[in-house]
Amino acid sequence: MNGYKPSPVTQTIPVDEVLRGLRSPQKELPCKLFYDHTGSELFEQITALDEYYPTRAELRILREFGADIAARLGPACLLVEYGSGSSTKTPLLLDHLDRPAAYVPIDISRDLLEASAADLARSYPELVVTPVCADYTARLELPVDLPPHARRVAYYPGSTIGNFVPEDARRFMARIADVCGPDGGLVIGVDLKKDPLMLHRAYNDALGVTAAFNMNILVRLNRELGANFALDGFRHYAFYNPVFARVEMHLVSLADQVVRVRDVDIRFERGESIWTEASYKYAPAEFAALAARAGWRVEQVWTDDRGLFSVQYLTRA
Ligand code: AVJ
Repeated sequence: MNGYKPSPVTQTIPVDEVLRGLRSPQKELPCKLFYDHTGSELFEQITALDEYYPTRAELRILREFGADIAARLGPACLLVEYGSGSSTKTPLLLDHLDRPAAYVPIDISRDLLEASAADLARSYPELVVTPVCADYTARLELPVDLPPHARRVAYYPGSTIGNFVPEDARRFMARIADVCGPDGGLVIGVDLKKDPLMLHRAYNDALGVTAAFNMNILVRLNRELGANFALDGFRHYAFYNPVFARVEMHLVSLADQVVRVRDVDIRFERGESIWTEASYKYAPAEFAALAARAGWRVEQVWTDDRGLFSVQYLTRA
């Protein structure tokens, strides 16, 4: 495998962050905890659901405009993918790139990262593939031994940017700007504002896969932190909050109960929730304003024919 190197990080649950979240007035857990092996597989299943439009819409955009997007990036770019997962969307860009210098997938899920990086390196024997197993929400340094390149372009599809509250999204995009430097670029998937009922359905699928995805966070806390969440004592609850333009996912306690996490008793009242995820939706002009505050200028916006989703190309302002 050309250029493939194993990386040294292992993902464990951040106990302090979990306890801090469970002790705050609105209990919360970080959504990055969804993505262990099971969670990553459940998410892959979500992307195939009838109700979950974002992945299909984004894939359609990438298939239709992949060559246009790649042309914007130019030759010899270093492609850095944030949250690469199974790298399904990578070939849609990679296939059109002019002699990319290297591909650097970053993901929190080690086994998925390494398997996907190995697959990709096999499909593109000329390509240098350097996976980085990391929590990309923390400060991040790229490996020092990367091949020479014309420019660095971050690839952040999937509308994962929507999981940050806007101020954190701004900070995160500013950090990407630092990593990519003054000639850097950013190809980013951004989910758009739309009919709330369509959003509601996308996060409340009939098969209950999203519910299982949400509940998996408690399964993980039980297994990995020795917590004792009763899985039938909590229920998936997701809704669109139009005031903040975000879908919120919660796990609602069905009874007054006490759960032990490590050596701490966490009390729940019946109906009280743990907030597990926010998924912000943007109008194009709103996203452009946010990007500008992070040092980026929107060069082009591609959308699907129903205007559900966008892929945007940003350069440094
Ligand atoms: C991949 C993080 C963008 O927010 O829509 C899917 C994750 N959560 N169903 C999203 C998710 C519930 C997804 N992101």
